[in-house]
Amino acid sequence: MKLTFKDNKKDTKKRALFVSVNSKNKDEIVKENGIKTLYLKCDEAEKMNLRKLFLLIRKMIVLAKGTKAEKIVFNFDDFKFNPEGKQASYGAGNIKITDKELGEIIGTQLDFANYEFVEYKTPTEDGFSFIKEIIILGVDKEIEKAILKGHTIAEEVNKTRTLANTPGGDMTPKILAEKAREAVKNLPIKVSVLGEKEMAGQNMRAILSVGRGSDEESKFIIMEYNGGKKAEKPIVLVGKGVTFDAGGINLKPSSSLLGMNMDMSGGAAVIHTIVLAAKMKLKKNIIGLIPSVENMASGKSYRPGDVIRSMSGKTIEVLNTDAEGRVILADALTYAQKYKPEVVIDIATLTGAAMVALGERMSAIFTEDDELAKTFEKIGEKTGDYVWRLPMWEEFENEIKGSLGDLTNVHNKDSRYGGAIYGAIFLQQFIKGYKWAHIDMAPRMTAMAGENLATGAVGSPVRLLYKFIEEYK
Ligand code: BES
Ligand code: MN
Ligand code: ZN
Repeated sequence: MKLTFKDNKKDTKKRALFVSVNSKNKDEIVKENGIKTLYLKCDEAEKMNLRKLFLLIRKMIVLAKGTKAEKIVFNFDDFKFNPEGKQASYGAGNIKITDKELGEIIGTQLDFANYEFVEYKTPTEDGFSFIKEIIILGVDKEIEKAILKGHTIAEEVNKTRTLANTPGGDMTPKILAEKAREAVKNLPIKVSVLGEKEMAGQNMRAILSVGRGSDEESKFIIMEYNGGKKAEKPIVLVGKGVTFDAGGINLKPSSSLLGMNMDMSGGAAVIHTIVLAAKMKLKKNIIGLIPSVENMASGKSYRPGDVIRSMSGKTIEVLNTDAEGRVILADALTYAQKYKPEVVIDIATLTGAAMVALGERMSAIFTEDDELAKTFEKIGEKTGDYVWRLPMWEEFENEIKGSLGDLTNVHNKDSRYGGAIYGAIFLQQFIKGYKWAHIDMAPRMTAMAGENLATGAVGSPVRLLYKFIEEYK
């Protein structure tokens, strides 16, 4: 999608769809003197907020696509609901952001909404309906820059979505590693990939155990970006990279198998967050670690009851082979400590229980660091990658004490309750003493109805992680 900046409507060619935001009570397309205008319904300025603004910008794209428009034109000022900035004609509102922030938001949301995963579809005669050009009126150079930055952010979010949307047969650990290599082309990021032999040499038996049931070789993807000072400790991002989660011997029921090609969404987010950070030339040192396996059921699979000695030395008693994400992340969190990290953030589609607890509008975040939790909550609201904190009390450790091994990978009495918390508590055992947060993004793996986004992956939480790194002090 091309972004063009013009001074006024008259500069724009015909055949473009004009968009006008106002508080009409319905969305409406009106034809006046040969010019088509889409009137977008929105709340009164006083009732507007950032959440509604995200939806509104995306609605513009969705409705415009519905009319088969390829080019749209709108006024930047139309999206100002900011009492401190210049005001839209219909009054002041409640969104307290600067014009620059608004520019970045608009730039991001436009491309975010224009995305659709069509790689496997045959185009009809008139092609796919994507908006090809957007003309934005009334912006100065500074806002223009902010909009283009938003556009770059969305590009990486959308690449994350494409990796996640790719069917499991075409997205194996080996292919994910190749995608990481491709993504860093012409950027100062080093990618190294450990195969099973190398992992064995590092005693990464937890990852190897989960991957053993698959014919596809497991991989450990390492990405290193050193944009900061040499002595500066890195921010380490760890992403779950299960390229297909069949559940293993605890095979998932049919209804739960579909979509499990997206169980590498955390890993995909890590890849493209680092790429984005490098593109934006952030002066930070960032490491990405992605344990990547396929969790299959076969004669070679790890079994319920197996006890694995993880890289950390702690043994894991496998009570359920479908709780595989935390098992591979255990080794990755151990590996992370080699870097003497400043902070470690892991991102994983870890539990269905997080969705039971929170619904599908936000990821669960776990950390013992109140400051870190607050930072993520604030950035979540600002970016639309929402997070909600869940507890990590010490008491929960009682229920993951093993009888054969040190730790069980699920509740040791097989309780259904608090599943997302036990996942987090399990991971914590492998990263104690470090500043750490765990993001269970299972709720945000796919879009839900009413979000004005294409079905499938949403590329969460790239915006959250990127802003976190950008603002980290
Ligand atoms: N990848 C799944 C979690 C998941 C489910 C993500 C649905 C996105 C949508 C994870 O590996 C898993 O299977 N978790 C189990 C844990 C259970 C065995 C304790 C779950 O959530 O049922
Ligand atoms: Mn699983
Ligand atoms: Zn999984």
